[in-house]
Parts: sequence; structure tokens; C-alpha cells
Amino acid sequence: MIRHASACGKIILLGEHAVVYGFPAVAVPIRSLRTRAELDEGSLPLQIAAPRIDLDAPMADLPPGHPLVVCVRLAAEALAGPVPGGRLTITSDIPVASGLGSGAAVSTAIVRVLAAAAGRDLPPAEVSRIVFAVEKIYHGTPSGVDNTVIAYESPIHFRRGQEPEILTTGAPAHLLIADSGAPGKTRIAVGGVRERRDADPARYDGLFRRIGDLAEEGRGHLVSGRIPQLGETLNRCHELLRAIEVSTPALDRMVEAARGAGAYGAKLSGAGLGGNIVALADPARLVAVEAALRASGAAAVFRTSLEP
Ligand code: MEV
Repeated sequence: MIRHASACGKIILLGEHAVVYGFPAVAVPIRSLRTRAELDEGSLPLQIAAPRIDLDAPMADLPPGHPLVVCVRLAAEALAGPVPGGRLTITSDIPVASGLGSGAAVSTAIVRVLAAAAGRDLPPAEVSRIVFAVEKIYHGTPSGVDNTVIAYESPIHFRRGQEPEILTTGAPAHLLIADSGAPGKTRIAVGGVRERRDADPARYDGLFRRIGDLAEEGRGHLVSGRIPQLGETLNRCHELLRAIEVSTPALDRMVEAARGAGAYGAKLSGAGLGGNIVALADPARLVAVEAALRASGAAAVFRTSLEP
């Protein structure tokens, strides 16, 4: 029997980096970008295929600490059953290393397909817990925001150690996501911020607090449908992310281009040092903003919207 499951991409609207230090963040799913897992159940030991990373091997031949192996084992453990036999194939349209949650989406799709094979429906909190354990292999000290927004597939207000709050937007919000084409370097970006914070805790804790305050402010604008004001909050957040030195000239250029073309606001999103930016625009400005983003060097532009 063939089982199918999928998981969405994500974008952090506000709060990245500060969220690692316990401050709040707001993140939203990108439902149009998906990772798919297909399990063709069989009697032979599990074979894992992920064409995008040139992987096609029996699970037993992969290192035990390989993230895909850890994910399958943790899912089987949570489902209190054996690792199924057959062929597990992962495909994805989420760009890798771009801050759009590709790793967490792969893990989420795997957990879901194994749950389907076991005839179980794991709640999002449980899926998120398993995916978080795998995220630690990819990223070192993740906050948990990526696995949470992808497992819940809803806009969320996230704070480490607290139940996520599911958010509903008060008015349609149209987002453009532009990929710089340079891989985001989550581990390096988070490590660099940590080093600079250790060298100057007072300054960095102040900046994190201001980023967290903007996440709270942005949450209010989003749920009340104050979309232009939310754009202004994104702009202010970008300046703080520049201050903690995770932006790059290419990201700044795209942010400027989006604003110049009439976006309500724009900022880098995710870890930075590459990866992508997110812009918020009125529907009437989407075509112009997208063109400006491409002209400023974006390797790819995606659109998504949040509906009330
Ligand atoms: C990465 O998508 C977001 C960061 O805040 C790291 C994390 O939350 O784990 C930079």
C-alpha cells in the first residue's frame, strides 16, 4: 500500500534570533510550498530516497545520526511500533537552506507518513516535539519556532517553553518572499549572534528585547487587520536585525527594492547571512513589488497570503 503525507514551508514574520533567547516570534505557514513523503510499504527493510540530495540507500547503510534516520526512528518510537519496511521517497518544492523551513518540513512529512502507515493521527504538538529533536541535528540550538509553525500549519505566536498561540489575521495579508539565492547559514548566523552577545550582553539583550517587543506589536496588527502598520513593524525589525549583523548587502538591496516599489514594509526573514526577505504589500502593488525584487537580484520570488 502507498501512503502519502506532506508538510508546508514557513516564513518568520517577526522575532527571529531574539526567539532563541526566550523572546516572542510570529511565524506563518507557506501552504503553497510543500515537501511530500511517500511510503510504498513492502517487506524489505526501509530504503530512503531523497532525489534532491542524491540519496537512495537502505536506512541501515546510513549513519545512525543522519537526520532522516533519526527522524524515522523517533517517529517509530512515538508510534510505539517497528520501523516499517518498503521505500520512503521525499520530494520537495521548498528551496533548501533558504530559511523557508525545508528541513523541518521534511521531518514533518516523514512523521506524518509513518503515522498514517501506523493508522494513527499524531497531534501537532507531538509531531512538533519529534521534529524539534531532528532540528537540533541540523541547527544546534534551535528555538523551536520552525517545527511548531510547520507542524501546526497555522500562523502562530511562539515563545520558547509556552504553548503556541494560533493566530487569525483580521484582514487579508499578501506576502512576497524573495530568495537571495545565497544559502542561509542558520548555524553560523545563530553562533555568530551568540558570540557577539556573549561579548556585549547588555547591548544584545537590549536589541533582543526590542525585537521581541516588535513581535508583540506585529501580532496585534496582524490579528486586528492593521496590515500597513504591520509593514512598518517589519521595517523597524529589519533595522534591528542589521544591528545584530545578520543582514547582507544583497538582503538589504531586496528590502530597499520592495519598499521603493510601494510595499508596506520588508525585512530579512529567518537566520539571515543569505536566505530570503519577506515583503508585505497591498494587492494592487504586488506585481510592481515582485518586479522590483527580481530586478534587485532575487533568484526566486514566491507569493503567499493570509486570509481571515
Ligand atoms: C531560523 O529560522 C530562526 C532563528 O531564530 C533560529 C531559531 O529560531 O532557531 C534564527
